[in-house]
Amino acid sequence: MTETPSGLSAFSLAGRTALVTGAGQGIGRVLALGLAQAGARVAVTDVNGETVAHVADELRAAKAEAAHRVLDVARSEDIEPAVAWAERELGPIDVLVNNAGIRERVFDSFAITAADFDQILAVNLRGPFLLCQAVGRRLAERGGGGSIINIASQLGLVGMAGRPAYTASKGGLINLTRTLALEWAPRRIRVNAIAPGPIRTPHTQARVSDPATNARYQDATPLGAWKEPEELVGAAVYLASDASTWVTGHVLVVDGGFTAR
Ligand code: NAI
Repeated sequence: MTETPSGLSAFSLAGRTALVTGAGQGIGRVLALGLAQAGARVAVTDVNGETVAHVADELRAAKAEAAHRVLDVARSEDIEPAVAWAERELGPIDVLVNNAGIRERVFDSFAITAADFDQILAVNLRGPFLLCQAVGRRLAERGGGGSIINIASQLGLVGMAGRPAYTASKGGLINLTRTLALEWAPRRIRVNAIAPGPIRTPHTQARVSDPATNARYQDATPLGAWKEPEELVGAAVYLASDASTWVTGHVLVVDGGFTAR
């Protein structure tokens, strides 16, 4: 990583290796393709082996170097081997994108069970932390710095009725981002978050299709809800690249104004 960004070439990820979780569909898939377009080699992982294999094919079709592997980020014991695998396949990781995430199946804080709560925290918060640790240790050992991007949510900044575990996990991920940024800044490991607003993905399709829910989200989002995941690519490339060498502990909100009120 260079010391000072200069011009548009600072956005290039040529020669960099990125690891993306939850990359089989939705935001993770589009971010993987976007990082590749900026020049990165990309290791894509997902709990779903079929979809992530397809994304690796898409990356290769776009002339990117790519590798894919099943990784359930809730399985703590699988994280270190997956990071070691990515480095064997594509070389030392420079960029980690913690994207995999899940939400409640029932939107009622009286109804959510301990098991559901634990599972959401395991995927949305513990997994990303362990990935930060596994990648962070390697970046620290090599001494060349690096960039970690945690995909949080606008719901990590504001509350939402019926989403106790999701909002807690994303709020936790944001403050984890700040803590690791402080701790690892002396090693030039930058840790930032992106807080997306309502994006159209398989994860949100039911909300887009339900007229009442859709109207509520449209009303809450000044620039309009349910934009495409491509809206997030610029933010991810910026945070991954030398264009942001002096940016750490930041939450880049890309939410159409959802949290502006
Ligand atoms: P999605 O549900 O469409 O895709 C998520 C991907 O993660 C899927 O490929 C799924 O197989 C994978 N995944 C699920 N559990 C996993 C696990 N345990 N280990 C590894 N992979 C796993 O979701 P979407 O919308 O693309 O969301 C991606 C991230 O962005 C999530 O962290 C989500 O919370 C966040 N986000 C999404 C917003 C939206 O409106 N779509 C808004 C704000 C944040």
